[in-house]
Amino acid sequence: MKQNLVAPSLLAADFANLQRDIEMVNQSEADWFHIDVMDGVFVPNISFGMPVIKAISKHAKKPLDVHLMIVDPDRYIKAFADLGATILTVHYEACTHLHRTLQAIKASGIKAGVALNPHTSVKLLEDTIQDIDLVCMMSVNPGFGGQSFIENTYQKVSDLKEIIIKKNANTLIEIDGGVSSKNAKQLIAAGANVLVAGSFVFGSDNPTATIKNLKEIIA
Ligand code: DX5
Ligand code: ZN
Repeated sequence: MKQNLVAPSLLAADFANLQRDIEMVNQSEADWFHIDVMDGVFVPNISFGMPVIKAISKHAKKPLDVHLMIVDPDRYIKAFADLGATILTVHYEACTHLHRTLQAIKASGIKAGVALNPHTSVKLLEDTIQDIDLVCMMSVNPGFGGQSFIENTYQKVSDLKEIIIKKNANTLIEIDGGVSSKNAKQLIAAGANVLVAGSFVFGSDNPTATIKNLKEIIA
């Protein structure tokens, strides 16, 4: 049985104290850093880009799970690989030639993820699932932290799990958006392996304890 993972999203960190928040994650029971890149075109918000990720990479001691919410992600695969991404996730909706994009990510020596917007059916991944290391299931519309969890996600997770099993794939299922102690257990029961948590972790009084608590819930 695979261990279930927690990936705090730095989008909810205090950018004026980024090093402090990175060290908190380093010292905590969290497994990965989730890093949200938004271009103001694919999503109606702009987060941060290469120079900030370079600074994060310098201090982070855990894998970097980079979620690209950008159009034409192929242009930047090598740049993110060089910056130290462990997993690079592109949006299904932003890739005309998804299979080619996945091959390009792997060719740069890192793991390949695909994110699905809430309206995108998991069935669209049936023909590529064996090439995907991680599916990032959006449980909010991408672009902002702190939104409410979309309940239909549970059904999508179990449908995707079925496809993974049927196709004998090794794909991890990650949930991104509105994750908290309220839905964590049910998400894992539906088949999720990785939970991203932004505002639930960084908005709490004691982020380290919140991470520990989430890990316990999904153990
Ligand atoms: C949303 C981002 C998420 C976000 C999650 O577009 O992809 O990773 O940071 O934040 P919370 O956990 O606050 O919903
Ligand atoms: Zn994300």
